[in-house]
Amino acid sequence: MTQRARNRRHGTNRRASPAPAAAASANHLLGLHGLSPDVIRSYLQLAREYSAARTVKPVLAGKIIANLFFEDSTRTRTSFSIAAMRLGAQVVDLMGAGSSVNKGETLIDTATNVEAMGVAAVVVRAKQSGAAAMVAQRVRCAVINGGDGRHEHPTQGLLDVYTIAESMNRLRTFDLSGLKFAIVGDIVSSRVARSTIAALNALGASVICVGPPSMAPGSLAAMGVTIRRDMDAVVPDMDAVMMLRIQFERAEAAAGTKGESLVTKAPGLASVREYRAKYSLTQERADTMKAGAIVLHPGPINRGIELDAPVADGPRSVILRQVTNGVLVRMAVMAKLCGRVG
Ligand code: CP
Repeated sequence: MTQRARNRRHGTNRRASPAPAAAASANHLLGLHGLSPDVIRSYLQLAREYSAARTVKPVLAGKIIANLFFEDSTRTRTSFSIAAMRLGAQVVDLMGAGSSVNKGETLIDTATNVEAMGVAAVVVRAKQSGAAAMVAQRVRCAVINGGDGRHEHPTQGLLDVYTIAESMNRLRTFDLSGLKFAIVGDIVSSRVARSTIAALNALGASVICVGPPSMAPGSLAAMGVTIRRDMDAVVPDMDAVMMLRIQFERAEAAAGTKGESLVTKAPGLASVREYRAKYSLTQERADTMKAGAIVLHPGPINRGIELDAPVADGPRSVILRQVTNGVLVRMAVMAKLCGRVG
């Protein structure tokens, strides 16, 4: 099969204008926006196969996966490492602290140097939106976006829809039509929201974004979602609610101010306390959810701000299922991109 045919089949992104240093382009997963439902399902179906498998074929044996993480991570980096090891690969970790990025080396130079040592794929996490795509233009190996700024976090989007399908008994088809899904909180800062919305839309679910205008602006409607302000009116009607952390660090970086100002600026919201009163999934609000409805959170959780601890740890919570399923979808992504699994 030609590279072009492979890209079409997997819906992966190939650089538009190859850099001289990278004559043979690899497959990449840079985002979910624009991928077809068939492509998204193909990753989910392979993840389901891995979930059921008693033994896993080591399709990455002899290969090395490099985690290039220039922003903090617990779940994504560990999960990629475990997924790669389960497929027989070896893993190297490079993080901002302790790398030559601290001496002024660029992300691109870092990535090309790591690639020159002979890796099958780099997983890139960075503060800059578009960082993974920039790396993909300069290397031959596969590039997987592990979260770039406010842009996308595609494997998180895949694990979210996998977990919803699992909880709603839709693992056979991954057809989520008829399901209503709310995302609550700091959506405008959230790469997770962008990827999860793309996946939910592709699989047929309805998505409602809930938050103050500063966090859920009307412009989000362009992503095919409905915007609502009143969480109490939305929650009882939902099959699933995903809570998002307020990303104080991104607000700080964007505004050059203390992150809490994002909340202070939100019309009608004077403080984190007031934010919590309007947009936290408290136990009281969770009690209004319908039977069988589930609660998701990509992590890290700020307990007591966007989500009460008893809800995070309660019977509706599938938060740790998301984490477990993250390994499966990352296995599927790496197997397809670097393991010659169709
Ligand atoms: N969900 C997620 O990306 O978590 P980490 O930042 O811990 O990787």
